[in-house]
Amino acid sequence: MSAGLVQAAYIVAALFFIMSLAGLSKQETAKSGNYYGIAGMAIALIATIFAPDTSGFGWIIVAMVIGASIGIYYAKKVEMTQMPELVAILHSFVGMAAVLVGFNSYLDSPEVATHAEHVIHLVEIFLGVFIGAVTFTGSIVAFGKLRGVISSSPLNIPHKHKWNLAAVVVSALLLIYFVQVDGSAFALLIMTLIAFVFGYHLVASIGGADMPVVVSMLNSYSGWAAAAAGFMLANDLLIVTGALVGSSGAILSYIMCKAMNRSFISVIAGGFGQEIVISEGDEQGEHRETFAEDVAELLKNSKSVIITPGYGMAVAQAQYPVYEITEKLRALGVEVRFGIHPVAGRLPGHMNVLLAEAKVPYEIVLEMDEINDDFTETDTVLVIGANDTVNPAALEDPNSPIAGMPVLEVWHAKNVIVFKRSMNTGYAGVQNPLFFKENTQMLFGDAKESVDSIAKFL
Ligand code: TAP
Repeated sequence: MSAGLVQAAYIVAALFFIMSLAGLSKQETAKSGNYYGIAGMAIALIATIFAPDTSGFGWIIVAMVIGASIGIYYAKKVEMTQMPELVAILHSFVGMAAVLVGFNSYLDSPEVATHAEHVIHLVEIFLGVFIGAVTFTGSIVAFGKLRGVISSSPLNIPHKHKWNLAAVVVSALLLIYFVQVDGSAFALLIMTLIAFVFGYHLVASIGGADMPVVVSMLNSYSGWAAAAAGFMLANDLLIVTGALVGSSGAILSYIMCKAMNRSFISVIAGGFGQEIVISEGDEQGEHRETFAEDVAELLKNSKSVIITPGYGMAVAQAQYPVYEITEKLRALGVEVRFGIHPVAGRLPGHMNVLLAEAKVPYEIVLEMDEINDDFTETDTVLVIGANDTVNPAALEDPNSPIAGMPVLEVWHAKNVIVFKRSMNTGYAGVQNPLFFKENTQMLFGDAKESVDSIAKFL
């Protein structure tokens, strides 16, 4: 393949990636967005493998077969609820790739025409390795926290922000030295170690409740790491793709910060996690219990119903019977809608994907901001496996770990039915005063079984 054809293929691949991002931004077009992404990646791979300056064809094929087998195995095996962990570990691979490309580029520097170009190349190597190393250890810690193998409480070492600042300043000084002495292996190695520790510390300092934002920030970092690798390898497509991932990850983090009322800057600084007070079983009064038959009766007598799903619906795989009761109620003339919190579940869009899978029509699935004012006019709200995202303490208790996070204000409805298995807390580890309100009733049991029983009584 000629160099000109490779460049043309890269431009087409980049366009496919842009169309993929545009498609993925809406549920209706998400599937085609995925196909565009696959097409773009296939074109990019073929063009790179058959590019005139590519050698070691056999090695590339062996690496691709191993990588693809592992990828296919995990893609088939992973549960939706484990997706954030998978995404986190994949980011760590991108980070490590940038570190390795950086060292390779240092050891095997290409011939450049001018001194300025040489300096730029050294800076690219240094920054690429730095971003890659931070992304690598940060993503491993995020994976460990999401998997539950590392404690989700934030690490609070004394003067943590000063340590972070010191890591950045020392790395900047090492960069100056690295360029001045025309590339020092010592400076590169020391900076890599500092960046590994810095990445670990940045993410370890963040509490469990804020992990969604961290995962999307690491997504952004992995994009910048890929872009840095693109500069080192002088590969335009890698630069464009890395920048697309980096900026879309940053935009997603910004949207999520807004949804959780967190400061974007403090997320980047890695220090906004608070000590999470685990208050499992911390009773706040009397709760009332109800049963499937009574809930079915209540639903039949309601004019308007809003369903607010959460992580528990995903665990129970209750989306299919939820669709069934939705259809039954709609056939009875009841208005049924869904209210989706931006961080419900364990990854952005988690609930939307599950509901779409169960064929719930898109037009009755509304975002939190679109539906939050309607609860006052609603007869019955079904809170199915959601907890933190419907917790009034976020608005009422300034000391709560989720204080300030906007929530679905379900308690304004006439009746609230909470589907869960026990009085245990949600992901953030805080008790929910909603469960003890006068208009709330608890329907205990596995969400799928509970919704199935209601469907039978309808
Ligand atoms: P959570 O607050 O985690 O609450 C889920 C509830 O579901 C739990 O209280 C649990 O209570 C119940 N549950 C679990 N399995 C169940 C089952 N089989 N049947 C019935 N109920 C079941 O969920 P949420 O309201 O969706 O909030 C999401 C939380 O996760 C937020 O804190 C958010 O920050 C965090 N998070 C979100 C993301 C993204 S991006 N969305 C990523 C990581 C973390 P029982 O144990 O009593 O059944």
